[in-house]
Amino acid sequence: MKTKARLLILFLSVSGVCVFWREVSQYVLPQEQRSCACDRCLFENDTLAIERLRKFPQPFLSSNYSLPEEDFKWWRVIQRGGGNISEYRQKMSRVFQLIPDNSPLEASIPGRCRTCAVVGNSRNLLKSHYGPFIDFQDYVIRINRGRSKGFESDVGNRTTHHVMYLESASQIDNTTRPVLFTFKMRDLEWITSVLSTQPSGKKSLFNKDLAMVLNPAFMRNIHQVWLQKKGAYASTGFMALALALHICDEVHVFGFGADSDGNWSHYWEKVPNKKVKTGPHPGKVEYEMIEELASHQVLKFYTGW
Ligand SMILES: *[C@@H]1O[C@H](CO)[C@@H](O)[C@H](O)[C@H]1NC(C)=O
Ligand SMILES: *[C@@H]1O[C@H](CO)[C@@H](O)[C@H](O)[C@H]1NC(C)=O
Ligand SMILES: *[C@@H]1O[C@H](CO)[C@@H](O)[C@H](O)[C@H]1NC(C)=O
Ligand SMILES: *[C@@H]1O[C@H](CO)[C@@H](O)[C@H](O)[C@H]1NC(C)=O
Ligand SMILES: *[C@@H]1O[C@H](CO)[C@@H](O)[C@H](O)[C@H]1NC(C)=O
Ligand SMILES: *[C@@H]1O[C@H](CO)[C@@H](O)[C@H](O)[C@H]1NC(C)=O
Repeated sequence: MKTKARLLILFLSVSGVCVFWREVSQYVLPQEQRSCACDRCLFENDTLAIERLRKFPQPFLSSNYSLPEEDFKWWRVIQRGGGNISEYRQKMSRVFQLIPDNSPLEASIPGRCRTCAVVGNSRNLLKSHYGPFIDFQDYVIRINRGRSKGFESDVGNRTTHHVMYLESASQIDNTTRPVLFTFKMRDLEWITSVLSTQPSGKKSLFNKDLAMVLNPAFMRNIHQVWLQKKGAYASTGFMALALALHICDEVHVFGFGADSDGNWSHYWEKVPNKKVKTGPHPGKVEYEMIEELASHQVLKFYTGW
C-alpha cells in the first residue's frame, strides 16, 4: 500500500512537472526558436507569407543529386536543347569532377541576420546613389553582364555572387562565386570546357573552386509555382531573386523593371536600347510578383530613379 501511494505521488509530481514544462516551453520557445536575428525571418513557418511559396530543398546541384526525369523533360525544351536524362547525368558528373561538391545551403543562424542585395541591370539605377547601401549587405549578387566599374556610386563595388549563363559570361573576380545557370545540354559542355582548358598563367573566366550550378528542378519550381506558368521560363534576374530568398534572411532588391521613361535597358548602355524587351520571360508578371513580395514584406524593393 505504502509503495503504491509513493508511486502515485511520484507519478503525479512527474506529470505535474511535464504539464508545467510544456506550458513553459510553449510560452518560451517561439521566441528562442526564431531562425534568425532579423525583424522577420523568411520561410519561418515553412511558407513565405504567400502561401504557395515554400522553401525549395535543393536550389543548387550537388554530385549525388539525381535530377527527377520530369524536371529534366521540362528543362530540355525551354531552349530546345534536347538530349536525354542519362546524357545529362553523365555530363553533370563530369562537371562535378572539376568543381567542388556544393555543401548544402547554410542554414539560418538564430543569432544572425544575413542580408542580400540583388542587383539587377536596369537603367533605373543611374543617379540612385544606392552604391554604399548595396555594398553594406553581407552578400551582393550581380546578374549576367552587370558590372560595377564606372558605376560604383549607383551600383556598389562588391560582388560576392555573380549569376551567369553561357551567353552572358564575362571575366569575374576570382573571389566572387560564379553561380552558373544552365538552359541546355550545350551549357554543361561549356562549363567543362571553360574549366578544363585553362592555359597555365592565363586568367580563367571564373574561380572554379567557388562555382555553383543552379538546379533545373528549382528553375521549374520558380516557373510553375512562383510565376504560375506564365511565359516560357523565368528570367535570370527573377531566378536570382528567388535564390537570394533561399540564401539570406533579409533581401534587398535593386535595378529591376523599366526606367522612369518606361525603357527596358541596361545601366551601362549610353543610348537606351529600345529593342530590349523581356524576351521569353514574363516581364510584367515578374515585376508584379516582386511588388507582391514587397507588399508582404518578404523583400525590400528599391525602384530607383
Ligand atoms: C509564424 O507563425 C507565428 C505563429 O503562428 C507568427 O506569430 C509569425 O508571425 C509567423 N511568422 C511568419 C514569418 O509568418
Ligand atoms: C549525398 O546525399 C545524402 C542524402 O541522400 C546527404 O546526406 C549527403 O550530405 C550528400 N552528400 C553530399 C556530398 O552532398
Ligand atoms: C541518350 O543520348 C545519347 C547521345 O545522343 C545516346 O547515345 C543514348 O543512346 C541515349 N540514351 C537513351 C536511353 O536514349
Ligand atoms: C568600394 O567602395 C568603398 C567606399 O564605398 C571604398 O572604401 C572601397 O575602397 C571600394 N573598394 C574597391 C575594391 O573599389
Ligand atoms: C586570385 O587572383 C590573385 C591575383 O589576380 C592571385 O594572386 C590569387 O592566387 C588568385 N586566387 C585564386 C584562388 O585563384
Ligand atoms: C525611352 O524610349 C522612348 C521611346 O521608346 C524615347 O523617346 C526616350 O528618349 C527613351 N528614354 C530615354 C531616357 O532616352
